[in-house]
Amino acid sequence: MKKVIWISVAALIAGGIVIAQGPTGQAKGPSKGQAKAQPRDPAQSPASQPGPPTMTPQAYPIEQIRAGELRFTSQCGFCHGRDAAGGETGPDLTRSHLVAEDAGGDKIGPVLRAGRPDQGMPSFNVSDTDLGAIVAFIHDQKTKFEALGGGRRAVDAADLATGDATAGRRYFNGEGGCSGCHAATGDLAGIASRYQGLALLQRMLYPSSGRPAPARPKVTLSLPSGQTVVAPLASEDEFTIAVLDPSGTRQTYEKKAVKFQIDDPMSAHFDQLGKYTDDDMHNVFAYLDTLK
Ligand code: HEC
Ligand code: HEC
Repeated sequence: MKKVIWISVAALIAGGIVIAQGPTGQAKGPSKGQAKAQPRDPAQSPASQPGPPTMTPQAYPIEQIRAGELRFTSQCGFCHGRDAAGGETGPDLTRSHLVAEDAGGDKIGPVLRAGRPDQGMPSFNVSDTDLGAIVAFIHDQKTKFEALGGGRRAVDAADLATGDATAGRRYFNGEGGCSGCHAATGDLAGIASRYQGLALLQRMLYPSSGRPAPARPKVTLSLPSGQTVVAPLASEDEFTIAVLDPSGTRQTYEKKAVKFQIDDPMSAHFDQLGKYTDDDMHNVFAYLDTLK
């Protein structure tokens, strides 16, 4: 039930949206260096031109597509649009060359799991089942958009300012558990001066995108030799896991040859995406917005 309510929020703020720019232009994102993460100007969007065609035709069961839609809406729709056709910061996936070349997640999966933090694409710790569902949804949307073409909606950033800051503070210190890791007078002091509007909401929901990127998840590896290695995660796919050694060089291991545990400080945020109700999210946002 909560998930369904959250999705209605995602539907409001995402879905190929064009956000009205604030006077400072800060809604564009926290970093000026993120040239690629700039919002797309719909007037310049090649919406009338067909995107690259799918190279390997694929069909997915409807149940898998529906499951993927739920995941996509709550975890990706904020940036890529709830219909995957592009949003404030995320590109239109139905016109992506990478998606066009993907077969069953072989191209999408690695991007999702490693992310491109410098470009504003967070990394996601998804199970194979969730990945399969998300991939099914993206391909299904691509097929639909190839047939239809897409319309774009506009949402005013003022829609964000409907929350109750007092209720938000209660949630932050209570049910939401945010105060277990954050303090309004500590790490989050002044957050509303650093990020405004949509950029603040994005930071609150997906801190693993943009700069500064949070610390990499920590991996504890048990090697066949009996040695235990603790190192930052570099990347992960279905079969391998790679960590950074003390010199910063990637060391890749076959998953089936080692035992490993990933300790991701960001996992609370991924879980939170499925927990926020519409009201909670607006309230917490309103509260953070007071931390100037
Ligand atoms: C915080 C915003 C954000 C979220 C959330 C997000 N993405 Fe992205 N994503 C981006 C940006 C920005 C890029 C473009 C990165 C670049 O320019 O290289 C991108 C790129 C991608 C690409 C590569 C497209 C290409 O053509 O190279 C894929 C695939 C993708 N995202 C899928 C997803 C999926 C699936 C999810 C949800 C599990 C998701 N993204 C969540 C911002 C986001
Ligand atoms: C288990 C720990 C944990 C919990 C619980 C948690 N977070 Fe976070 N949060 C993090 C980590 C780790 C980061 C990334 C490190 C960083 O950038 O400060 C982060 C980053 C953030 C940021 C961006 C901070 C910045 O300076 O850019 C905001 C905003 C935020 N979290 C809000 C929340 C809210 C709201 C809640 C409760 C609903 C919450 N967090 C719950 C661990 C947590």
